[in-house]
Amino acid sequence: MILGVNVDHVATLREARKTFEPDPVMAATLAVLGGADGITVHLREDRRHICDRDLRLLREIVQCELNLEMAATEEMIRIALEIKPDMVTIVPEKRLELTTEGGLDMIGHKERLNDAIRKIHDACIPVSLFINPHIIDVDIAGEIHADMVEIHTGLYSNAGGKRKTEELHRVAEAVKIANKQGLHANAGHGLGYFNVMDIAAIKEIRGLYIGHSIISRAVLVGIERAVREMKELVSRAV
Ligand code: PXP
Repeated sequence: MILGVNVDHVATLREARKTFEPDPVMAATLAVLGGADGITVHLREDRRHICDRDLRLLREIVQCELNLEMAATEEMIRIALEIKPDMVTIVPEKRLELTTEGGLDMIGHKERLNDAIRKIHDACIPVSLFINPHIIDVDIAGEIHADMVEIHTGLYSNAGGKRKTEELHRVAEAVKIANKQGLHANAGHGLGYFNVMDIAAIKEIRGLYIGHSIISRAVLVGIERAVREMKELVSRAV
């Protein structure tokens, strides 16, 4: 199971002072040294953390999987086609949200997503769709020829007790259906050192995409160690 490390929040800290440090590009290098299999960045319309310069430099230096998270807008599609990340993850984006709050509205935006996938595929870039753990959403992802889905684990992460077990089953079921449809299944959002094991134990998952908890730990122990510790947990669960 691969671990993609999202370095957005290194840029969040930089943007708090509108200065040059800390640099998410340097953080990405250290994350790879710690064992990251991939680096993820979300280029938002408002450029609140990652900016175009970060993405350009990351494309030059990241030799493992560079995953660009983006909304399905004309501007972002143009940037993806120019930069050519190793994969694109399409996410919903709302201006006022603190983080990506839910999966894509697959029913409402089916045509738009279909169109975006077609354009990104023309540049031979694989596309993942960030979706809620709903069977209908997995089915639509298959219909519109996504290569992968990333199952939103936010509800699982925030739940406790019986609800947590239910959400875990929901994620596992969505992963299984995705695999049956020939889609690779990833998972992410809200995963950390205290809740990752049960998700990592779902054998059919291709990769986990984790940001906030790794960067939070990195503030205290350094990014290489924070990534190494997450990799160890994930590999123990598989
Ligand atoms: N996957 C996707 C598609 C996301 O949008 C995010 C948040 O940027 C993550 C994974 C990582 O979530 P977290 O920062 O909670 O680990």
